[in-house]
Amino acid sequence: MEDKRPSWSSRVSFILAAVGSAVGLGNIWRFPYIMGQNGGAIFLVVYLLLIITICFIPLFAELAVGKITKKECVGAYESINPKFKLLGIMNPVTGILISSFYFIVGGWIINYIGLSFSNLKMFNFGEYFTELTQNSIPACGLTLAFLLICIFFTARGVKKGIEFANNVLMPMFAVILLGLIAFSLSLPNSHLGLEYMFKPDFSKVNAHMFLAALGQALFTLSIGMGALLTYGSYIKDDKSITKSTYTIIFSDTLFALLAGIMIFPAIFSFGLEPNSGAGLVFVTLPHIFAQIPHGEIVSLAFFVLLLAAAVTSGISILEVPVASMTERMKISRTKACTILFFIIAAFAIPATLSFGILGDFKIFGKNIFDCLDFVTSNLLMPLNAFFLCIIAGWFLKIKGNSFINNKFVAFLFDIGLKFVVPIILLLLLYIGLRA
Ligand code: PFF
Repeated sequence: MEDKRPSWSSRVSFILAAVGSAVGLGNIWRFPYIMGQNGGAIFLVVYLLLIITICFIPLFAELAVGKITKKECVGAYESINPKFKLLGIMNPVTGILISSFYFIVGGWIINYIGLSFSNLKMFNFGEYFTELTQNSIPACGLTLAFLLICIFFTARGVKKGIEFANNVLMPMFAVILLGLIAFSLSLPNSHLGLEYMFKPDFSKVNAHMFLAALGQALFTLSIGMGALLTYGSYIKDDKSITKSTYTIIFSDTLFALLAGIMIFPAIFSFGLEPNSGAGLVFVTLPHIFAQIPHGEIVSLAFFVLLLAAAVTSGISILEVPVASMTERMKISRTKACTILFFIIAAFAIPATLSFGILGDFKIFGKNIFDCLDFVTSNLLMPLNAFFLCIIAGWFLKIKGNSFINNKFVAFLFDIGLKFVVPIILLLLLYIGLRA
């Protein structure tokens, strides 16, 4: 058991881990299809505006609460006021629920890595993907395999596991991404994909798009689940978090844009639709890979890239409950990870089966997978982010002028943290719950 709290070896290690948490399926699987469903370039404009003006505040607050209290989520909230303990507990609970559906997608990625070694021309990917998700036992095996990969790194601890995974996987991710972008841009008519991304049609702005953009921004920046709070609690005292906040936001946004630049030119080059939803990456892209020379190699590179992104985010999701369990229950990491494995499996297996034998089991009209996605993205994450802003602004009294030199910007930060962002989050929550 680690009797002393762990800390990052260096600022670079922390930044890599935080960017590794932020850059994940949200950037490469979710962002392109949500953008495709919400009008393309105009969605991007709204999304970028929200990231710059609003998301900076809760992201900074999460890191600050972690760094100031030097505790995992439950202890951090409790140390500010014992009455907030339950609000703290909501963070690891959200983590467990998110992992239950996030890891299912991770399992599909593992399957597509294996598939890249066969002749892709043999498959009809629409049917293939449906069969994969419906085939109960292999699908559960894949989900658990992804869970085991992430748990392996988390169990090894902050330095030997989390830092190691991010130090290896993030640079690998960036190199593959750049290679695939070069390939995608070299395809005929690739400029059509770029036009789709960067030529906004302002007539398409609407409230639904605004909410989709905000929900996506919170998810992709890992805000509202305590991952950044936990990572922030491992920062040494002498390190500033202001620059780190900018770096995380900039890198995450850059990687989402680069993922779009990798995906849309290929889609438009083959005359396909960008709005095919969650199947974009598992049906539309493999269909393209099957038609190009050496498509199997491109497919392998793409799914390894996706796996690297998903694992570094998955590790950060697991670290929230693991840190809470080790520090609160005073048990070893290995023990905490073993218990967590069974807890997550208890949610993830029914969620995996909701595409197959449990397909008819509905909660409020949604299958278990959609229900977990809805409860976490539409309810728990905005709610956790709301309480975080209130606690950081009103109780911990984090002030803009303690880290921002410009008085006016510091004032805007204070107003944002105490009033504007909590109100917007409540609005997101209200509309999200009616969806
Ligand atoms: N930000 C991750 C992604 O974009 O895939 C998902 C995520 C990780 C959400 C960690 C929340 C979290 F705490």
